[in-house]
Amino acid sequence: LANTVALTPPMGWNTWNSFGCNPSEALIESSADRIVSSGMKAAGYQYVTVDDCWMSPDRDANGNLQADPAKFPHGMKAVADYVHTLGLKFGIYEVPTDRTCAQRNNVLPLGKNGLGTGSLGHEQQDATTFAAWGVDLLKYDWCSADGDLAYQQQQFSLMRDALAATGRPIVYSINPNSFHADKTGATFDWSGIANMWRTTEDITTSWNTGHTNSYAMGISNILNINGTATIADQSGPGHWNDPDMLEVGNGGLSADEQRSHLAMWALMSAPLMAGNKLASATPADFALLSNPDVIAVDQDPQGAGGRLINDTNGLQTWSKRLGDGSLAVVLLNQSSATATVSTTTGRLGLPSTASYALKDLWTGQSGTITTDLSASLAPHASAMYRITPTGPAATPAPPADGTYELA
Ligand code: GLA
Repeated sequence: LANTVALTPPMGWNTWNSFGCNPSEALIESSADRIVSSGMKAAGYQYVTVDDCWMSPDRDANGNLQADPAKFPHGMKAVADYVHTLGLKFGIYEVPTDRTCAQRNNVLPLGKNGLGTGSLGHEQQDATTFAAWGVDLLKYDWCSADGDLAYQQQQFSLMRDALAATGRPIVYSINPNSFHADKTGATFDWSGIANMWRTTEDITTSWNTGHTNSYAMGISNILNINGTATIADQSGPGHWNDPDMLEVGNGGLSADEQRSHLAMWALMSAPLMAGNKLASATPADFALLSNPDVIAVDQDPQGAGGRLINDTNGLQTWSKRLGDGSLAVVLLNQSSATATVSTTTGRLGLPSTASYALKDLWTGQSGTITTDLSASLAPHASAMYRITPTGPAATPAPPADGTYELA
């Protein structure tokens, strides 16, 4: 979406994955403090977003949204102001339908007369409220089985236009896929409508679950859907595929799986929205979330998507073109046994006439690569590299994406 924001994948933190329907002023403000003191802000994390359940179940007499007074005693503008004083940005949650996802799931009550607090029929009024509060990102979540793709496009476009009419630059983050993947799938290109869109259903903090594309997907299944060229080609400055928020630090994943999770999100140019409990996060969690080389791959200004270029029985090679002519590569062991995952410069589309510098982004070690690249990896572990052409032989530039060997 050409609205001057999200020129690289938005980075931040969101309440949902760890706190569900219990966000509060104290939680948001203390989390924002921790984003600064932990070094996450310096690493690039910026948007502090309150997900579902921030609102009172009733609009005021004029139909305006209001914060839940018990959770947000000073209202949402005060929270946004606090976040802004730290040099961070503030995000909020709403839905294009009549009731929020939590209201639909009976976690948050409906208001008087059984009405929900969704933005349906209040699009401009709510956009104006958000702009007045100082909102910098809106997560707009379909969360309903109603409507077909054309209706979704229409309703998501309404809020796009309402946000634009406020004149405030607001990242527009949509979720067309909650309970709806059968209708929209991962492959509809929303780049003219939103800055980022969920490609898959809700993540859960597990590598493997039985869900292929339904609520609570394991990371492995999310990767299976997101690796195609069709999805990768939708990625670019101002418009990003969103495989959902991070589960780093939330249990359920081994250290290797957490590293692979972050590596793959960076390779896919995914928004990096941490979802952990910052108050109890470990130094290792912060170090992983803030790895500068991995974040540089995610934040590469060219914004290319990452692709699965080879999969041999779960031994996978993924790559992404970077703006400086480098290639980011992840070797990922999706099998259940330790194995050597390997590729070659030829398979990566790198001309044999050039020489290459190689950086291992997990160990920080630098080296060179001639033809073969391989790593012995435990199940679900990954190796991540940045491969940079060196010397005059680097021209002509590596071939275009289309020349990659496809699995
Ligand atoms: C949906 C979304 C989640 C979260 C919840 C809130 O499930 O996909 O990310 O926003 O709604 O209820």
